[in-house]
Amino acid sequence: MSKLDIAIAGEINLDLILYGLPEQMPTERELLASGFTITLGSSSAILAHNLAALGSRVGFVTKVGDDAFGTLAMERLRERGVDLTSVAHGAESGVTLILPHGLQRHILTYPGTISELRFEDLDLDYLASARHFHMSSLFLQRELLPHVPELFRAMKFAGLTTSLDTNDDPDDRWDGALEDILPYVDILLPNEREAMKISRADDVETALRRLAQKVETVVVKMGARGAIAIRGGERFTAPAVTVTVVDPIGAGDSFDAGFLHQFLRGSDLTTCLAYGNLCGAFSTSACGGTEAFRDVTRIREFFRQHDTRNQAQ
Ligand SMILES: Nc1ncnc2c1ncn2[C@@H]1O[C@H](COP(=O)(O)OP(=O)(O)OP(=O)(O)O)[C@@H](O)[C@H]1O
Ligand SMILES: [Mg+2]
Repeated sequence: MSKLDIAIAGEINLDLILYGLPEQMPTERELLASGFTITLGSSSAILAHNLAALGSRVGFVTKVGDDAFGTLAMERLRERGVDLTSVAHGAESGVTLILPHGLQRHILTYPGTISELRFEDLDLDYLASARHFHMSSLFLQRELLPHVPELFRAMKFAGLTTSLDTNDDPDDRWDGALEDILPYVDILLPNEREAMKISRADDVETALRRLAQKVETVVVKMGARGAIAIRGGERFTAPAVTVTVVDPIGAGDSFDAGFLHQFLRGSDLTTCLAYGNLCGAFSTSACGGTEAFRDVTRIREFFRQHDTRNQAQ
């Protein structure tokens, strides 16, 4: 049996979140926030953390900054039992500053090591020792991106199943290596906007149809409207779980964690979607993308309350 259920290659950084700032932010003024959280952020690390909290055996490969922020970020993953034996080290951590203003937010990122992971940093044997390979935030991987098709091909060749959540393309170009990666992706996990951008479609239905021609399982996340999936010409929809939202940061990554956790247990697509929605909603019930998942008792309690089919385990 594989030691790892899943290997994830990607970025790690802390999120610094200042709540309650005024909507207008004039320069040269002292603007007071009403709340502050420093938490493990970044799509790939959030996924690794939350998957491990659910009980999957996770190996995470990243480039971490040799500084206090990098140390704290790694500590958060270690607490959850994520395997970090193949992590590479760089000079300066990246950081994301998030300024929510009601429903809108400023997201300011200094990349640092976030975009410095190189193909040479990866131990392919380590990655291939898992049953499944995943990447998130594809377009932030500036160094790695040209090699990602080769990486996915190697993982498929080694017999792993694969998944990809591109997240946003900061350049809004949606090209580069993506077309060469998709043939080696088993599960694609975009949100609605990303699905349309990747497929150059004007509506979600067209996007789903086009993407389903390239990828076996396409799952589109739709915020408070839940998720849709297509596999083998069959279409599945799953409503969101009703929740009092504290913070939507990381809901998409938490959805991925729930979906993949069930996929790795061999569950059917309906169960994977339901569990994705459950975890996405759970993430919104606390600050940032990982705070809710730090309290294992709280996870169980939330699942007991909301999972009518009692799949949470
Ligand atoms: N307001 C909400 N109420 C209930 N569930 C939600 C809500 N917002 C998000 N979710 C859950 O989280 C999932 C992912 O959210 P969303 O569609 O916003 O993904 P995303 O845009 O990829 O997020 P991210 O910004 O984290 O990358 C949804 O499919 C849903 O299950
Ligand atoms: Mg997302």
